[in-house]
Amino acid sequence: MSATVRAHSTNENFKNNEKLGVIDPSELLRPEPAFAKKPVGQFRDYTVDESDPIKERVRRTYYEMHTNQTVDFVKGRMGKWLKFNHFKATVREALEKLNDLVDESDPDSNIPNIVHAFQTAERIRHEHPDLDWFHLTGLIHDLGKVMAFYGEPQWAVVGDTFPVGCEWGKSIVYRDGSFDKNTDGNDSRYNTKYGMYEAHCGLDNLTMSWGHDEYLYRVLKHNKSTLPEEGLHMIRYHSFYPWHAGGDYAHLCNEKDQEMMAWVLKFNTFDLYTKSEHIPDIEALWPYYESLIDKYIPGVLEW
Ligand SMILES: [Fe+2]
Ligand SMILES: [Fe+2]
Repeated sequence: MSATVRAHSTNENFKNNEKLGVIDPSELLRPEPAFAKKPVGQFRDYTVDESDPIKERVRRTYYEMHTNQTVDFVKGRMGKWLKFNHFKATVREALEKLNDLVDESDPDSNIPNIVHAFQTAERIRHEHPDLDWFHLTGLIHDLGKVMAFYGEPQWAVVGDTFPVGCEWGKSIVYRDGSFDKNTDGNDSRYNTKYGMYEAHCGLDNLTMSWGHDEYLYRVLKHNKSTLPEEGLHMIRYHSFYPWHAGGDYAHLCNEKDQEMMAWVLKFNTFDLYTKSEHIPDIEALWPYYESLIDKYIPGVLEW
C-alpha cells in the first residue's frame, strides 16, 4: 500500500475517534460472485461467534444500532447534520479526509476508504465506460462517513439501514433480539406494519435510520449536485439491504422505487469490500475523476 494511501493522521477530530476504526458491516460481508475472492457463502455471514473479533464487532454495532435508532434519534441527527455547518470541503478534500479515518484501525481488516472508493469507481468505469455520472457515484458513495470525524458513533454512520417509524423488516440482520430495547417497539404510532407511513408512499417519504447514505444524499441536494436521479438513489439506498436484497418494505414502495431498485442492485455489485483486491493508482486517476467532480459537484461544498 502506498505512502499516500496510508498517510498518517494528525487530525484532532480523528484522534478523538481513534477507537472508531470504521468497518462498514455492509461492505465487509458483501456477497458478489463476480468479484469475490473467497467463497460466496462466507460473505454477509452474521452468525454469532464471540471468538471472532470482527464478527463480534459487527454484531455489537448492529445491536447498538437497533437499540438506539428510533424516530426521535433520527430526527435529532437530522436537526444536527442538515444545518450543513460542520465543515467546508471539496469532494476531493472530503475523500482524502476519509483516508485518515481508517488509518489507525486494524490493517489486516481494513483498507482506507479512498481505496474502496476508487476500486468501486474503476470497476463501474470498466463495465459502463459511457456512464460518467455512474463512475462518480462509485467514487463518492461512501463520503457520508466523514460524519465519524464529528463524534457520530459507528452505528449511526455505517451498516445496513432500515426505515424507522414502522415495523422492522424480517430480513434485517439480527432482527430477532437486537431490537428488544428499542423504545419504538412499544410505541403504537410506530410498531405496526405501516406505522407513521401510508401504503406505497415511496421510499422518498420514509425516515431512514441515520447513516452515511442519507447524509451524503442530503449534502448533494443541499449543494445542488447535478448527478442524475439514478445516482442519487444509489447513494441514498445502497445500504438498505432489507429492501434491495431482503425483499422487505414492498408495501411502502411506489413504482419509481421498483424501477430504481435495478440501479441500486447494479451499483451494489460494484460496491465490494475486500482487502485482496488490486489497489488502484490513485494519483494517476485523480485528473479523470476531478473532471467529473467539476462537471457534477464542483467547488467547495457545505457539509
Ligand atoms: Fe456505503
Ligand atoms: Fe461502499
